[in-house]
Amino acid sequence: MALGRALAVLLVSTGACAMALVTEASAASGDQEAGRALFVDKQCVRCHRPRGEAGAGPALEELRRPQGEMELAGRLWNHVPDMAATLEQEGSAWPPISAAEMADLMKYLLADRSRDPEPDIAKGQVTLLKKDCLKCHSLRHEGGSVRPDLAEPRADYESAAAWAATMWTHAPRMATMARQRGFSYPRFSGDEMANLIGLLRSASASPTRGPAAAPR
Ligand code: HEC
Ligand code: HEC
Repeated sequence: MALGRALAVLLVSTGACAMALVTEASAASGDQEAGRALFVDKQCVRCHRPRGEAGAGPALEELRRPQGEMELAGRLWNHVPDMAATLEQEGSAWPPISAAEMADLMKYLLADRSRDPEPDIAKGQVTLLKKDCLKCHSLRHEGGSVRPDLAEPRADYESAAAWAATMWTHAPRMATMARQRGFSYPRFSGDEMANLIGLLRSASASPTRGPAAAPR
């Protein structure tokens, strides 16, 4: 496809610019510079241009601001459906992002763990219900039938980057299923993602699991 090839060339050339910047910005950490390059590789730069240039999304300067890691994970989750629809229309593939790459991207976007609050488990419970997770999934066998049960221990509950990467990979399918079932894709704001993860982490640490476990 000619358009696809033109885009690839464009991406490669903007990628080259980003690489040139890497050598200039000597003070910044390696992770942040890797994140800068990934921002180009993962197509983010197509919609998030520097301020003053037209782009489909908010300007790069608005994305790069002090924020919590879970807060950013929530923001990334929110825009999966729009981005997936845009890429689908063009016939482009969804860019996979690994946990390590997500950590670099988070660094580049100035996300800092210390800005996330201590999770509030009670609020996390409200969030779990409000965001419709249990319409598809179960928590300790109560709720929907889509795997996984959210009380199963998961390594990605322990790290914002790993969690954001998991959601990045799977959310397009969740979005499709939500559309098919006629309810809206859940969106996150403020501390909601931090609280939800706090709840899931604590639920998964509980020993009452397995088919025989009584739901609480
Ligand atoms: C197809 C265009 C498009 C692409 C590609 C895209 N975005 Fe976005 N992005 C948007 C739009 C539109 C918004 C604002 C509306 C929304 O949040 O859905 C947005 C919002 C965001 C926000 C939230 C900003 C805020 O203030 O809450 C973040 C963070 C973000 N994008 C990061 C990324 C990253 C990282 C990538 C690459 C992995 C990416 N975007 C790729 C269009 C895009
Ligand atoms: C509309 C149905 C639907 C809703 C709502 C939904 N999910 Fe999912 N979820 C899915 C499907 C389908 C998959 C399997 C997708 C896949 O593996 O590609 C999945 C997979 C997952 C996974 C496993 C991903 C992996 O890589 O192993 C987790 C964790 C998860 N969802 C958490 C949540 C949380 C938390 C919420 C609420 C904020 C939620 N889901 C809301 C349908 C849904």
